[in-house]
Amino acid sequence: MNQAEKERVAKLGKNWTPKGYIKKEIEAIRRQVGDKKVLLAMSGGVDSSVCAVLLHKAIGDQLTCVFVDHGCMRKNEAKEVKKVFKGKFGINLIQIDAEERFLAKAKGITDPELKRKCIGGEFVRVFEEEAKKLGKIEFLGQGTIYPDIVESGVGGHKAVKAHHNVGGLPKDIGFEGLVEPVKYLYKDEVRKVGRALGIPVEMVERQPFPGPGLAVRCLGELTKEKLDILRDADAIFREEMAKAKLDKKAQQFFAIMTNVKSVGVKNGARTFGYVIAIRAVSTSQFVKAGIVELPFKFVVSVAEKIATKVKGVNRVVWDITPKPPATIEWE
Ligand code: XMP
Repeated sequence: MNQAEKERVAKLGKNWTPKGYIKKEIEAIRRQVGDKKVLLAMSGGVDSSVCAVLLHKAIGDQLTCVFVDHGCMRKNEAKEVKKVFKGKFGINLIQIDAEERFLAKAKGITDPELKRKCIGGEFVRVFEEEAKKLGKIEFLGQGTIYPDIVESGVGGHKAVKAHHNVGGLPKDIGFEGLVEPVKYLYKDEVRKVGRALGIPVEMVERQPFPGPGLAVRCLGELTKEKLDILRDADAIFREEMAKAKLDKKAQQFFAIMTNVKSVGVKNGARTFGYVIAIRAVSTSQFVKAGIVELPFKFVVSVAEKIATKVKGVNRVVWDITPKPPATIEWE
């Protein structure tokens, strides 16, 4: 057992349970925060969601969550987050619709690394502006999980792409300290704690969604037209995967806007539309990934559905490349 793992075990205790963890963490948060305030950037992902509910249970209205819609969210994502966290849990949640601002900033940028940096940088600026409006807030909440700590120590992953994590805000934006209530947990453990907290299964079992969102699945320049097409295609694919009960077989599955246009035919007339790709991978640690063998008939019917139902699309291809040599995301 290495030093980091020893520390993790010491922190959690050998026979820890989600219920016991919640109780201990609530006490720890109260001790750390006292009567001060916490601001949390919520992405709707599993880690920040669990973090939000834990913090809310511990300090109630001393917590404010900010959800920044950078225009690269999946279909209905902002609405679902609002319904669950504001509606069900009564969390103090501010949603910022910054789509126009992000797309204006990203206009003309086609290089994948520059796109990531543009979105990451703008995210920090929007978040900072919002924090200023809220007055004095002493702590920044973060949904850091254990692999994030290990990874940043090892570093190798970061050399491939400039990862932007919504939780990865710079520490110098004027907070007294960080509150990281899930920092010693692995992803599956975060999910267990989430279930014990009563977060809906659809949210707790969600597939990982990258910080820059659909930006890494929308090749070339980011435009509202392309992103809307991708959102619709992606929603159909995910819905069909769930209906066919194939969603449990893949850790990640999504659609990609290839930015390529091809000729097709609809209602007897020639079309010139976008090519959408679909991808479903199985992986344990995301460093390597295999292709999920989706039934061929299923793939054909999904392709037909996307190409006929989504305006602007007339062709669908299936990405069957493992990682390596490909990465999971296309950019
Ligand atoms: P790749 O594409 O590198 O992805 O094979 C490995 C895992 O990381 C996720 N990913 C990201 N997550 N910010 C994130 O928060 C990012 O910039 C980012 N890029 C990739 C990807 O979805 C997969 O789970």
